[in-house]
Amino acid sequence: MTSDDAERSDHTTKRVLFATAELTPLARVGGLAEAAGGLVRSLQAEGVPITVVMPDYSGLELTNERSVDLDVPAWAGPMRARRGAIEDLHDVILVDRPGIARPHPYVEPSTGEGWPDNDWRFMCFSAGVAALTELLNPDVLHLNDWHSAASLGFLATPPPTVLTIHTLGYQGMCDAAWLNRIPHNPWHFAWYDGCNPLLGAIRSADKVIAVSPTYATEIVEEAGGMGLHDDLRRRGDDLVGIRNGIDTNVWNPQTDEHLAVNYGPDGIEDGKRVARQALCEEFGCSVENDVVLGVVSRLVDQKGVDLIAGLGPYLEGMKAKLVLLGSGQAELVEMIEDMAATYPDRVSAVTDRYDEPLAHRIFAGSDLFLMPSRFEPCGLAQMQAMAYGTSPVVTPVGGLVDTVTDVDRHRSTGTGFVAETNDLAGFVDAVHRGLRTTRIAARRRLIQRRAMEHDWSWQGPARAHIDVYQSVLA
Ligand code: GLC
Repeated sequence: MTSDDAERSDHTTKRVLFATAELTPLARVGGLAEAAGGLVRSLQAEGVPITVVMPDYSGLELTNERSVDLDVPAWAGPMRARRGAIEDLHDVILVDRPGIARPHPYVEPSTGEGWPDNDWRFMCFSAGVAALTELLNPDVLHLNDWHSAASLGFLATPPPTVLTIHTLGYQGMCDAAWLNRIPHNPWHFAWYDGCNPLLGAIRSADKVIAVSPTYATEIVEEAGGMGLHDDLRRRGDDLVGIRNGIDTNVWNPQTDEHLAVNYGPDGIEDGKRVARQALCEEFGCSVENDVVLGVVSRLVDQKGVDLIAGLGPYLEGMKAKLVLLGSGQAELVEMIEDMAATYPDRVSAVTDRYDEPLAHRIFAGSDLFLMPSRFEPCGLAQMQAMAYGTSPVVTPVGGLVDTVTDVDRHRSTGTGFVAETNDLAGFVDAVHRGLRTTRIAARRRLIQRRAMEHDWSWQGPARAHIDVYQSVLA
């Protein structure tokens, strides 16, 4: 054991309270669920005593359950915490408060509109996290995104605290009246004429983690800081970037039960041929001539859906078929459906659901995976694609830059195609470059294998988190 390991294992005895609004598979909307689920399981495997606290949206059942009433302000109560184990998670606390439970964590499912009382719901959750912190006295409090950020305003003397920013796209901005209900340092939460929970935690936490090194540099600039760049810049070295991993037990073509055949780096050519053929049969493309471009994405502004739609006119000339799985904002769903109607032979889209088995088949069966995000704090799908030996074509932003190495700029290490510019011209050019390389079998095989053999697991990132815990404890 090196001295580094010794220090680390020493700190595995420190107790972490980890607050999140989503965690796969208990409550899943987007990347937050996957990232929180992957990190917590990996920290658990590293021996860190970690307790997850999340809202109970649906009356989940725990084993070995015990419960306690939480001491929260009158407007947030009555509130109960139920603690126990669920699935492979040893220690989970569900915060129960009438009104927090809903059929979807954030939006009315039929309209996609946010619940009108989300500010109150997550202020309640934050007050609950604060009450639990006082009760359990953890060594480290780890908050994720805005949903639990206000807990720091309800704690007179918070323990060492880490805040992870999965996205600045949602800050929980709400009415200034909330400032009157925040007893400690309310000015940290004051933002123009309102109350900004995420900003409050950015100002109060001991360390702030951005979910990739590049995102950590982007958010201190006006262009990427979504209004909070000055405050983020002021944090100096207390703002760090650690990229996410992926759950390599779930995203593993060697064991994936959703694939027609399993394959590893040695059998990549045969494995992907079978997966590709199956995908072509499912979506009707010509196996010999077409290149299959895959997309698995939430259809929200961040994901560059307009750039995907912009590819429409080029597909015929590229002899490419686009296979898309995505759901989300109504106007973007419509944009993709229009594209599919305009180019019926070239585009097949499933837009009414998230279908996990189909996602696995798209990652495996595509020749190239498209992810032209306008901004991307980390991004998981590009890593999932690479784990299946599929080269991503991405825009030059955030975690995409940290995880995809451009094949044409780095011949001996490249894994995918990074657009020169974050616009349609740059993206179309990168897709073209991807197509050219994909059609050269020997070169393609080499790149696919390289992408697949990279360690995308959570182990390294989890250890980097332990180092951050250690630094706030010092
Ligand atoms: C958010 C970000 C995404 C990131 C994920 C997990 O969904 O948009 O880039 O990968 O959180 O951290």
